[in-house]
Amino acid sequence: MVKIQWYPGHMEKARREMGERLKSVDMLIELRDARIPEASVNPIIKQMAQGKPRLIVLTKIDMADPEQTQKWVEYLCNGENSCIAVDLMKDARCAKKIIREAILLMEDKRKKQLARGIRPRPIRAMACGIPNVGKSTMINRIHGKNTLKAANKPGVTRSLTWLHADENLDLLDTPGVLWPKFDDEKTGSLLAALGSINDDILDRKMVAMDTIHYIQDLYPDLLEEIYESGQVNPNGMLKAIAKKRNLVKADGILDTKRAAELFLTELRHGKLGRLTLERVNENQEDMSE
Ligand code: G4P
Repeated sequence: MVKIQWYPGHMEKARREMGERLKSVDMLIELRDARIPEASVNPIIKQMAQGKPRLIVLTKIDMADPEQTQKWVEYLCNGENSCIAVDLMKDARCAKKIIREAILLMEDKRKKQLARGIRPRPIRAMACGIPNVGKSTMINRIHGKNTLKAANKPGVTRSLTWLHADENLDLLDTPGVLWPKFDDEKTGSLLAALGSINDDILDRKMVAMDTIHYIQDLYPDLLEEIYESGQVNPNGMLKAIAKKRNLVKADGILDTKRAAELFLTELRHGKLGRLTLERVNENQEDMSE
């Protein structure tokens, strides 16, 4: 199993900054990768949400297993939270869908305000998620030309940049970088496999072998079919990939290191088909609760 270190210093800084910013928002828009909806959780979000409603946005569904995405959406829509799954690249309506879900999540509160004669102000939402989950893509989708500064908003810290997403929704980007927390090795491997951890700190061959093992478990025939490998263990699979892709070293030996890199690149770009590497476990408490 691959061993990956976690950086508590980064987390502490993000925790402080996020705590400060959270005071000015009504809800969170939490992005997760639909292919790893559990491993792509950032624990700070869970700790800091302070009971604020969360819209969980599963991104990259074009590369995830549709049946599993449906199960995850149902599982993650509970109590205070709701969940929506989107393709941020090809779905031109994804920004509208996210805005609509966010407004829907806050509808009860807004109705109560109206009943008390208070004219509700636009909802303030903070977008958050680990690196590479699609946060910039989502913000660009929503952005348009409607950036507005906090300076003229009462009760909101100066210098924060808000996006006026809709007449009923203002959006704040997360401060700092929310690294994932990968205490357990499987979470680390999954994050590394899909590119949420800097490649330079990793043993890519180990990451590839762990991932091959997970895929063989969840989609038993898939890799054998793609790489025409027959039933082999992860190391054997790397050799089969090297053979299939003609990756041979100068001395004629199959280059399994390059095979590992190629495998991870193909996986990250959805070239192996639509895969979800985590399953809903009804008996287990969701990390986000
Ligand atoms: P971040 O701000 O959370 O770090 O993520 P960002 O928006 O930069 O997105 C990371 C990569 O994921 C980008 O690819 C982006 O195009 C891609 N991406 C985001 N949402 C989706 C989605 O719904 N579907 C698909 N297929 N891709 C999505 P990139 O710039 O090419 O980076 P990389 O893939 O080389 O890391």
